[in-house]
Amino acid sequence: MSEEIAKISYNGNTYDMPVVTGSEGETGINISKLRGQSGLITLDPGFKNTGSTTSSITFINGEAGVLNYRGYSIEDLAEKADFMEVAYLLINGELPNAGQLDDWEKKVSYHTLVHEDIKKILDAFPAKSHPMGQLGAVINALSTYYPEALDTDRDQEAKDLTMTRMLAKMTTLCSWIYKNTQGHPYMYPQTKYGYVENFLYMTFGHRTEEYVPDPVVIDAVDKLLILHADHEQNCSTSTVKIVGSSKANLYSSIAAGVAALWGPLHGGANQAVIEMLENIKKDGGGMQKWIDKAKDKSDPFRLMGFGHRVYKNFDPRAKVIKKAADDVLDKLGISDPVLELAKELEQKALNDDYFIARKLFPNVDFYSGIIYRALGFPMEFFTVLFALGRLPGWIAQWKEVNDLSLPIGRPRQIYTGPQSRPFVAVKDR
Ligand code: CMC
Repeated sequence: MSEEIAKISYNGNTYDMPVVTGSEGETGINISKLRGQSGLITLDPGFKNTGSTTSSITFINGEAGVLNYRGYSIEDLAEKADFMEVAYLLINGELPNAGQLDDWEKKVSYHTLVHEDIKKILDAFPAKSHPMGQLGAVINALSTYYPEALDTDRDQEAKDLTMTRMLAKMTTLCSWIYKNTQGHPYMYPQTKYGYVENFLYMTFGHRTEEYVPDPVVIDAVDKLLILHADHEQNCSTSTVKIVGSSKANLYSSIAAGVAALWGPLHGGANQAVIEMLENIKKDGGGMQKWIDKAKDKSDPFRLMGFGHRVYKNFDPRAKVIKKAADDVLDKLGISDPVLELAKELEQKALNDDYFIARKLFPNVDFYSGIIYRALGFPMEFFTVLFALGRLPGWIAQWKEVNDLSLPIGRPRQIYTGPQSRPFVAVKDR
């Protein structure tokens, strides 16, 4: 950390604030003592310019389109690692050696079974309820089956077990939610399968017939999960961290993250992109009309899957996903007119002054839905897949809050309501 100082001047006084420098050279002013010294707070709606924490997990350079997990580039990890290695890396800080990986996979696989009563909870949901609503509820419910996890100050081994359980049971929960929405009987995890294989087996397998997941599908899902595995202090991760900072248990903190991810401006965008492309197809009125709608400030419509708070250049995940979409559809022999529409829309937007001036590029959600659809997932399930991928990141970031004993997250505000006034009895109002 450097010893540099930034000076803030106000009302004739100057306050020295330390400048913090990260390992990739970004700098920030630590203003945590500003209010104590000057009475001032900083105001930054949406935290557009506020670092909530230091973190050693994920690095993004939005201007250069760089994304690294623990120092490894997303391109390398997507090409050379598998999701279990990446989950280990995020949670434990280093890539596992062969023995550690084997041990990790066995441990995760061993804990995939969930309590039978989870079925009763799932049965209670209306048949058409959104899978993300179900997911948040059953993840939170895990806290009731493991009450010892409510104590977040237990020894490391006990905390590790909770993190392993969370990761392991997620595949079963997601698959059972899928089965629930289809009205089909639940499938049980098989310890002989790896993480992604097991998930696909429980999701698409049936009790009535043999099901062997297609290696093309396993690879595609694995890669998509890696690309979603962490993204530093985004909306859902910040939610997990702020909930975790109150010493709330891991399961409930993750459930809060699921709620944040669901929104269409965040993870829910992958569903919204396909809905938008389907509407464009149905409308048949050409692409320009939709570009114009997105640019019209009096119209709430936005080009879903475009733009990002941090990336002001191509989202590196979108580059990998775009290529994967072509490969997967090709290997599975599927031709989806929506993929062609997406490419056409991307080209139009990338050449439009409005999108150029605002540095709006396709993000991770622009092409992911096209792959999910080709693999047979229903649209409403897409954000569940995002959550499945993001889980190791949420766990790692929750662990970081816990390990560093970070203070409880509690932003300040500038109050703009009525000034203090006397109470008026109801008869006098
Ligand atoms: N379509 C049209 N205009 C846009 C879009 C878009 N998709 N995104 C941003 N803009 C405009 C926005 O209107 C604003 O214009 P102006 O400067 O004239 O007021 C400017 O670009 C800056 O946008 P912003 O809303 O201030 O940027 P933000 O950082 O607050 O929002 C965002 C980021 C991702 C919420 C936004 O770009 C958006 O709504 N995109 C569509 C939803 C989407 O694809 N979300 C997935 C994000 S990636 C996955 C994830 O991490 O969740």
